[in-house]
Amino acid sequence: MLLKDKVAIVTGGKQGIGLGIVLALAKEGCNVVVSDLQQKGCEAAVKEAEKLGVKGLAVACDVSKKEEVDKMVGEAVKKFGKLDILVNNAGIFPFVPFADMKEADWDKVLDVNLKSVFLCCQAAAKQMKEGGKIVSISSIASIVGFEGLVHYCASKGGINGMTRAMALELAPKKINVNAVGPGAIDTPGAQGGSEEQDKQTIAAIPWHRKGVPEDIANAVVFLVSEKADYITGQILVVDGGWTLR
Ligand SMILES: NC(=O)c1ccc[n+]([C@@H]2O[C@H](COP(=O)([O-])OP(=O)(O)OC[C@H]3O[C@@H](n4cnc5c(N)ncnc54)[C@H](O)[C@@H]3O)[C@@H](O)[C@H]2O)c1
Repeated sequence: MLLKDKVAIVTGGKQGIGLGIVLALAKEGCNVVVSDLQQKGCEAAVKEAEKLGVKGLAVACDVSKKEEVDKMVGEAVKKFGKLDILVNNAGIFPFVPFADMKEADWDKVLDVNLKSVFLCCQAAAKQMKEGGKIVSISSIASIVGFEGLVHYCASKGGINGMTRAMALELAPKKINVNAVGPGAIDTPGAQGGSEEQDKQTIAAIPWHRKGVPEDIANAVVFLVSEKADYITGQILVVDGGWTLR
């Protein structure tokens, strides 16, 4: 087991990519703090993780609010006595044409997707010892444009920049900071497109399929393990080759 007796926080961990990460960490022996907006969803995810033989903690937390983030990290450390891993996964991607985008639309996406990473990393890094690992879920939208997602693309580009700068500042403490950039992944949050849009997306992906949460979770497990000790400040794109053309 790659992560036996480690302790990880996963934000937005009740479904989709976050839940995939929670279960992949648990399979490697890692205790998991599942954080999401609603306590009930966190508890259900913890239950699934505990079936794999690890301990879990469910903590409702809106990651865009500093008091809630500080409390969540505090509860994690109180329960497990340490924090080894933070996975910043919580995120939203509401499509809004740029011309119609309200200031409130912009603020919401930037707060949930980007400010949250600042808040969670700062609170978590204070608790981490040498060997701590931070991974943020960015997106291929940080490197290519998507119509209707100007605010989202900005937030994910921001994560990439923060990842590199935080990696430098946390290097003296030997805390690794990296990001994973998913392509199109089948999750509850990514439903709602038409069949035709789905077909077009799959046709554009050299691997000829959408990703599943496990595809992203496998990359996260690697980056938070000792096998990635010498990797920091990197954005690992996991997209079946979509952005190669
Ligand atoms: N699905 C994709 O194709 C895809 C592609 C690239 C990147 N991503 C990124 O992966 C991450 C997970 O996406 P997903 O597809 O699993 O989405 P999802 O909507 O299925 O899950 C996201 C989770 O985050 C939670 N969340 C939302 N706002 C929150 C907040 N303020 N505080 C705490 N939790 C909050 C939601 O409740 C939900 O459980 C996001 O950061 C997303 O931007 C997804």
